[in-house]
Amino acid sequence: MLKGKNVLLGMTGGIAAYKTGELIRECIRRGAHVKVVMTEHAREFMTPMTVQTLSQNPVFTDMFSLIKDFDIAHISLAEFADIAVIAPATANVIGKIASGIADNLLTTVVMATKAPVLICPAMNMNMYANPIVQENISRLSTLGYRFVEPGYGELACKVTGPGRLAEVPEIMEAIETTLTDQDLSEERILVTAGPTREPFDPVRFISNHSSGKMGYALAKMAKRRGAQVTLISGPSALERPVGVRFISVSTAVEMRDAVMAHLERATVVIKAAAVADYRPAAVSSSKIKKKEGPLTIELVRNPDIVSEIGRQKGDRILVGFAMESENLVENAKAKLAAKKMDMIVANDLTQEGAGFQTDTNIIQILDRDGGIEALPLMDKGDVANRILDRIRAMRVAHPRY
Ligand code: PMT
Repeated sequence: MLKGKNVLLGMTGGIAAYKTGELIRECIRRGAHVKVVMTEHAREFMTPMTVQTLSQNPVFTDMFSLIKDFDIAHISLAEFADIAVIAPATANVIGKIASGIADNLLTTVVMATKAPVLICPAMNMNMYANPIVQENISRLSTLGYRFVEPGYGELACKVTGPGRLAEVPEIMEAIETTLTDQDLSEERILVTAGPTREPFDPVRFISNHSSGKMGYALAKMAKRRGAQVTLISGPSALERPVGVRFISVSTAVEMRDAVMAHLERATVVIKAAAVADYRPAAVSSSKIKKKEGPLTIELVRNPDIVSEIGRQKGDRILVGFAMESENLVENAKAKLAAKKMDMIVANDLTQEGAGFQTDTNIIQILDRDGGIEALPLMDKGDVANRILDRIRAMRVAHPRY
């Protein structure tokens, strides 16, 4: 989303200014153009030279520098911005903006811009709790300014509480969300992801190679597009997507129970998890000792979660996945019909760049009306968005009443 976008970053004077360096780098890494305005006090914490080097653009500090080519800084910066982000934002700058004061370059640009403004407060916990600051925040929120709440932790002044500048991934997610069309804001989406683990003694289990990347990408993109998202995940090393309700499970039975407990609220269910079809019939309470000869483990069927949802799906949109190594389309079609899905996403494990663990996937989307859409190799984030586009189109064609 950030590719080609113009981010105007405002820095005010706070110890958290050092984190803004990382924020600038991350914006640039995602393809944004970044220009930075620093207040006089911000320059006590970071040098303009450092910020200029990181942003790959001149740093703007002065309201009254001579006009070059009739380019009036506060107007051209206000127009440059697709989004204005103030990080860190002190109580002082929040108070000025809330009161309509424009007495330096940053506050003047904020006053002049039509772009969305995202404010990331960072200050001492007592200052943050001060009713004047809270009133300013709620006044600005009512006026459409957006906030990324500060984190909880040890502050520079050695007290512990809320007031730390939010972490960079959280601010980045807020920037991405602000710049994304909220076309899924009416949906409550339940996503399953990752593998399941089926133990047969306290140290061993049967599992598969799912990393969770496909399901986590779906959860993250759905959240970014405004949906309320619940992510039910088997064991995964991935970071939990920001702003998503997260439920951790291990076995297929646990996943089934969690899905059924959250099904009622969901308007869309996406089953990207690689659920084990079988589990050991018995789980030994102690480690099974090595013996001469083979070891036989009896397996029993696990619940088929997606079929159970299909039987009681109502007007929910049910999207399954098909992981195949042969006859991709035939097998996917059979699963779509048998499990009463509205859509199935077929991926062929034998294709390079598709399926388990990679950052990319190659999919075909089959729908209940017989349509098939084949997509080329894409990043899993883009694949997720294409699946969500299809869900959105299905909802527009069949609204809920
Ligand atoms: O996690 P990654 O490393 O990113 O890999 C992504 C992925 C390959 C796991 C993903 O893209 C994928 O294909 N997920 C579905 C894997 C799978 O279990 O496919 P299946 O064809 O065996 O199952 C069909 C559908 O039934 C799936 O939606 C599955 O979630 C569901 N199912 C399967 C068994 C079971 N007991 N209950 C189920 O609900």
